[in-house]
Amino acid sequence: MRKILENSIVVSNLAKTILYSTEYRIMNQLSKSFSLFVKPPYQENDKDLVKYLREGVLKLHQEDAKNIADGFYPIGVIKPKGPKEHLKNLPYLLIDSLKISRRRKFNIKKDFDIEPEDAPDYLKRNYHFQTDGYFSEQSAKIYEHQVEVLFSGTAGPMRRMLIKMIKEKISRDRPLKILELGAGVGSATLDYAKAFDFSSYTVSDVSGPYLKAAKERFNNPKMEFVQTAAESLPFADEEFDMVFSVYLFHELPQAIREKVLAESYRVLKKKGILGICDSLQKNDVPKLNRVLENFPIDYHEPFYKGYTIWNLNSALNAIGFRNVESQFKLLSKYWVAEK
Ligand SMILES: C[S@@+](CC[C@H](N)C(=O)[O-])C[C@H]1O[C@@H](n2cnc3c(N)ncnc32)[C@H](O)[C@@H]1O
Repeated sequence: MRKILENSIVVSNLAKTILYSTEYRIMNQLSKSFSLFVKPPYQENDKDLVKYLREGVLKLHQEDAKNIADGFYPIGVIKPKGPKEHLKNLPYLLIDSLKISRRRKFNIKKDFDIEPEDAPDYLKRNYHFQTDGYFSEQSAKIYEHQVEVLFSGTAGPMRRMLIKMIKEKISRDRPLKILELGAGVGSATLDYAKAFDFSSYTVSDVSGPYLKAAKERFNNPKMEFVQTAAESLPFADEEFDMVFSVYLFHELPQAIREKVLAESYRVLKKKGILGICDSLQKNDVPKLNRVLENFPIDYHEPFYKGYTIWNLNSALNAIGFRNVESQFKLLSKYWVAEK
């Protein structure tokens, strides 16, 4: 019975991978037909790399299935979007892929109709060359789908691998007070809210439009949505049992990353747990180093290179965190640490 369950989950995840990687190819084809395609200096012709990534994707999906079968998170996390919801944004996504290709080709990093006012200066740019960066409702509408295309439908499983690491470390037997930083449109929130028993769940992000989109997805009185920069949190000391973020740190300058760690430490209770899911770092998988070097150029990520050589284990220990553990899977890396 368990094998049937796990195999069905792997098949469902693989179907998403096939769908999103097909959309990725369509977008590349589209940008080629408008002479906007910029070929990355790795990938298609590197058979060894492609083989490694294909095997890695399968392994990730199998691990996701095992985590569900072992009860770390419920099967509801793999529920696909209905065809109507999936197709609704596809035309915008295709049009935006051309705009992104143009910015990439001509290296246009700041392309705003209206400059976002309430954002930190380092964020006022077109991250990933995406239209409006993180600062419009339209960008928020298509962001999650764009990430799935980028990661060939593996973003969901990569985000939720951290749940198992946190659950293995956290010792509380009562409902948790959770804080999520840089939650975006709530992509990880959907799974974490299903996986953890909580008395309160504070979802935060610096972007108003992204947080608004996240808020619209939930109808749970125990959840609140707070617009804030993670480096200056409007919360009291020792308020939370668990603080976590997914794909936040690689977007931040070094000094801000350090401040976010210090703020996370401050708002955590004693023995509280910090969880971080972010990108793989340099030399985790040496054959992927070229991919990591190219990523910030291809996707306009100005602080990514610094992130990939940042020793986060040392930074966590320096702030006072204990029992730091880290792992990596496919293209993501995970840390858990105790206050
Ligand atoms: C790559 S996205 C990840 C979003 C989401 N966690 C996910 O898994 O899709 C990074 C998010 O961090 C937010 N962000 C960037 N800088 C921030 C900061 N200093 N404080 C809080 N959020 C920030 C952005 O608005 C964006 O929503």
